[in-house]
Amino acid sequence: MKKTVLVSGGAGYIGSHVTVELLQAGYEVVVADNMSNCDSTCFEGVRKITGRDDLKLNIVDFCDKARVEELFSEYKMDALIHFAAFKAVGESVADPLKYYGNNLESFVNVIGAAHRHGLHNILFSSSATVYGQVEDLPVTEKTPRLPATSPYGNTKQICEDILRDCTSAYKDIKGIALRYFNPIGAHPSALIGELPRGVPNNLVPFITQTAVGKRECLSIFGNDYPTPDGTCLRDYIDIVDLAKAHVAAVSRMLDGKMEADYEIFNVGTGRPVSVQELVDTFEKVNGLKLNCKIAPRRDGDVTAIWADTALAGEKLGWKATRELSDTLKSAWEWEKHIAGK
Ligand code: UFG
Repeated sequence: MKKTVLVSGGAGYIGSHVTVELLQAGYEVVVADNMSNCDSTCFEGVRKITGRDDLKLNIVDFCDKARVEELFSEYKMDALIHFAAFKAVGESVADPLKYYGNNLESFVNVIGAAHRHGLHNILFSSSATVYGQVEDLPVTEKTPRLPATSPYGNTKQICEDILRDCTSAYKDIKGIALRYFNPIGAHPSALIGELPRGVPNNLVPFITQTAVGKRECLSIFGNDYPTPDGTCLRDYIDIVDLAKAHVAAVSRMLDGKMEADYEIFNVGTGRPVSVQELVDTFEKVNGLKLNCKIAPRRDGDVTAIWADTALAGEKLGWKATRELSDTLKSAWEWEKHIAGK
């Protein structure tokens, strides 16, 4: 009997890639999304990649308790991966109530429904943002979390705590938080990828939109940081590698392999890459020259952060495999695909 995984926010960037990997690994998936931050492009892409024309898109706002209840009554599900949340750092600073309201309420609702309906395995999509600017790099899962620097980051910390407390209070619930570093790239088919609304905040979508001519010039935010080339260091994780980490974590839960009721894993490559190195690599592998300039530092950016990935390697049997060059090629193929080129 196939195990069924509910993917909340399943039509979005990460959710759609995770849905593909779960289906290809032999799981059944219930995709649910309120489509507030995406259209159906990625969901249609998932259907094409997997040949699952019958896959249903359940329109669910996870803040709507009655609708969540209805979903749990309709399907018998074994695990939940919760993505449904707002994710723009700057917007969360400008409108914190939007973030606390949506990101916390939806998570509380879905855990409550899971608890009532006997779904015991919950995976939460957390972020490296919970670490803040730490001194000792790379960060391990034991590195203490510093106070969040944005309401968005705070919702990630609070949701981690909600999950931890629920696993400790309700003995039937098990939880895993995956702390993503910087997810980038697209599926090799170029049928699913990131579709930011408006001007992208993140580096790679801004690069690809500049390359395709949608943006005039890429700004590199600061080249006077205390790093080898003066630009910030991040750990860029390929989206398909990231998606596979979810399959490994879900299997760990469903196969009864967890060693504690609540576990945390970093999901990154373990390799710091500078903004300048990323831009240079993009240009080289795609044979392009980007229009770019050095701009002032961006408020709130940490100088450097990258993951220690030993725990995920040991316990999940997972590690990142895709080369940065291939990931950046996939990001460009996806941008061309959506531009119709
Ligand atoms: N950058 C530029 N120009 C741009 C966009 C970004 O130089 O146009 C630089 C940033 O300054 C940073 C690096 O590229 O040094 C990466 O920036 P992103 O916005 O792509 O990613 P962040 O590391 O800022 O964001 C990540 C996650 C968020 C999370 C945040 C916490 O994507 O979900 O870390 O700081 F909240």
